[in-house]
Amino acid sequence: MKWADATDPESFRAALSPKTKAVFIESIANPGGIITDIEAIAKIAHSADVPLIVDNTLASPYLIRPFEWGADIILHSATKFLGGHGNSMAGLIVDGGKFDWAAASTPPCRSLPLYHGMKLWETFGDMAYAIACRVLALRDLGPALSPMNAFLILQGNRNAAAAMQRHCDNALAVARWLKANPKVAWVNYAGLEDNPCYALHRKYCPKGAGSVFTFGVKGGYEAGMRLVNSVRLFSHLANIGDTRSLIIHPASTTHANSKRRIAQKPARRRCGALSSDRECGRHHRRSGSGLGRGITHPSRPRVMLRCERSELEARAGSSG
Ligand SMILES: Cc1ncc(COP(=O)(O)O)c(C=O)c1O
Repeated sequence: MKWADATDPESFRAALSPKTKAVFIESIANPGGIITDIEAIAKIAHSADVPLIVDNTLASPYLIRPFEWGADIILHSATKFLGGHGNSMAGLIVDGGKFDWAAASTPPCRSLPLYHGMKLWETFGDMAYAIACRVLALRDLGPALSPMNAFLILQGNRNAAAAMQRHCDNALAVARWLKANPKVAWVNYAGLEDNPCYALHRKYCPKGAGSVFTFGVKGGYEAGMRLVNSVRLFSHLANIGDTRSLIIHPASTTHANSKRRIAQKPARRRCGALSSDRECGRHHRRSGSGLGRGITHPSRPRVMLRCERSELEARAGSSG
């Protein structure tokens, strides 16, 4: 696998080689909140006869419809915004049916010994990739969704459009509030007018820039950890797209082992606000302070801080 720079479409061209099978991007990146130039990258992928696969999890089809910008395959972790309640794990692969597999060297056009030399592209035409997912991946790996989880995702999905708008509106309010806070060093949210991705936000998802973004607090690494351990409204956990507002400090948790973290540059230490908040307005109206001020769509109050297990154990130990 070769990495390219999501903010620079030409870096995808530079990464292409005769071995490239596909180009894979996120429409809105987790956790950076970068909005990717799908149209430009689709053209680059197609110039090399490879499909563009777009992970549309953070945008959901409510914000971005990648097929309209040239994507060939769309993925979703339905665990997140599509299900909307964090109660079941599921994923979707959506085949746009337009990619010319005849020119590619991937399974839909290869002769499959398992199926007596059948070429899926020849037999199934524009359904070739969807069929390949079933007769190769599903058959061999067995990732079948349980009926109960399918039901929960479908139930959760019924109000996904309304929820998505609320996620975005609240994220924008939180990002503006943080930006005006003297204890905050920087806020990276594409919905803010001075953000480098603002133009892409207006082009691809004018209804909202999603609800996941990053910010840095003054005071560096320790200040980031202190913040996460002090918040009362935001939950400290990593799953996004349900009804709670989440906060996590990647440098000390999810990315603690990454090489970039080892560089220990204080200015780069960051705290990611995974803000899916539909709830914080009312809580903070009641408490009269904090992140929720200015949020326009309050609903039921709820404060939950889930600490890392080791910390909970330490606390349990110290309190006897
Ligand atoms: C953008 C994105 N895609 C896919 C996934 C994988 O989701 P799942 O755990 O449901 O497989 C994640 C998980 O965080 C994600 O953020």
